[in-house]
Amino acid sequence: MNVYDSHLVSQFLLASGYVPAADVRSADVVLINTCAVRAKAEQKAFSHLGRLLQWKRRKPDLIVGLMGCVAQQEGSDLLLRFPGLDLVLGPRDLTGIPRHLQALEEGCIGIVATNLDVKPPASLNTPGYFNGRVTSTLSIMEGCNNFCSYCVVPLVRGREASRPPEEIVEEARHLLSDGVKEITLLGQNVNSYSHGEGGEYRFPDLLRSLSPLRGLLRLRFTTSHPKDLSGDLMDCFVDLPNLCPHIHLPFQAGSNRILQRMNRGYTREQYAGKVMRLRELQPKISITSDVMVGFPGETAADFDLTLELIKEIEFDNLYSFKYSDRKGTRAATMEGKVDEKEKSLRLAVLQRMQMEISLARNKRLEGTRMKVLVEGASRKGGQLTGRTDTYKVVNFNADSELTGRVVEVFIERSSANSLWGTCIK
Ligand code: 5AD
Ligand code: SF4
Repeated sequence: MNVYDSHLVSQFLLASGYVPAADVRSADVVLINTCAVRAKAEQKAFSHLGRLLQWKRRKPDLIVGLMGCVAQQEGSDLLLRFPGLDLVLGPRDLTGIPRHLQALEEGCIGIVATNLDVKPPASLNTPGYFNGRVTSTLSIMEGCNNFCSYCVVPLVRGREASRPPEEIVEEARHLLSDGVKEITLLGQNVNSYSHGEGGEYRFPDLLRSLSPLRGLLRLRFTTSHPKDLSGDLMDCFVDLPNLCPHIHLPFQAGSNRILQRMNRGYTREQYAGKVMRLRELQPKISITSDVMVGFPGETAADFDLTLELIKEIEFDNLYSFKYSDRKGTRAATMEGKVDEKEKSLRLAVLQRMQMEISLARNKRLEGTRMKVLVEGASRKGGQLTGRTDTYKVVNFNADSELTGRVVEVFIERSSANSLWGTCIK
């Protein structure tokens, strides 16, 4: 979502005549995009901002802005806390960026734009902006109405607002005409997407509208909420040939007591039931998830239930976090805070367990052939990299001209996070 927002701002700036700087030191304007979901991301943003403001002492004309969820949450306090900061821009006020920069260039001091409007996210289809990219994201909705008790998102991104389907289809067409082959639809809770007066046009309808677009090799979406995962959406994994068999379905905790305190709206049994149904319908489907340890009141027995669920489901991949208090959320005021050391211990146990599961699942793929959409050179160089439709990273030797094509790779080796092989077709 943040990467999408950064691209959006960058397109707004290009349209207003700004050009990208080669590096931070030669830039006249620097904007830092921020995430407030967990304390660690926020701390990172602040230390980056601190370093940038030190650099600004040598270049006083530099315009420095902080955008995104941390900007929204902290608002004008940031101007007091970080002297030299020029602009504080919330995630639902991004369209105003050229206007704010112009005001700053004309001598305005310290602008705070944190209006939590209910309008859906803006789009700007700059021709050629995504040229050369194989994969891209497309935001279909903004905000969230769920109020999970630990989560700052509804406070900093506001209430849910879905974009009209025609606008989404147009943006998808634009991405495809730039050469993009794979589109990932984005939203805090994509499966509560709805449009029309009575909200009768739902997320599965949107998938069915997008799937036939010419040139769309792969369609993905993230993130889904287990409570809103309908039978109709599950059917899309069977009916739509280019919808990738992968779902990111955060479960957060394995204890029903904790799930209730989190206000998640499902039980572990309901979660496991939905995963089972998905696997019945589409046996190939890969399931990834998010989980938290050390939520207020989480006992050792609750944590064991989380481990048990992980063992039962055997996720393909799991993103795991230590719970951290977020200002303004219900959980921040709850009793029973878990000690930091205990949280670290629980996280290490959980991550070790998942590592073994991911390893075992990937090991089973050795000796098979997998279809890979080639994204380009691998990070370490010398090889190409891409993903399977099940979202697994594959590195292999082949000609770089294959970028953007789907090839068949014979899998020879695996780790918990990647596969390696040889291109055979
Ligand atoms: N503390 C730790 N992790 C959190 N997440 C959301 N809020 C918090 C918090 N307060 C995690 C959830 C979510 C992911 C994006 O971040 O697991 O799914
Ligand atoms: Fe946060 Fe819950 Fe909304 Fe996800 S569904 S963004 S965790 S409030």
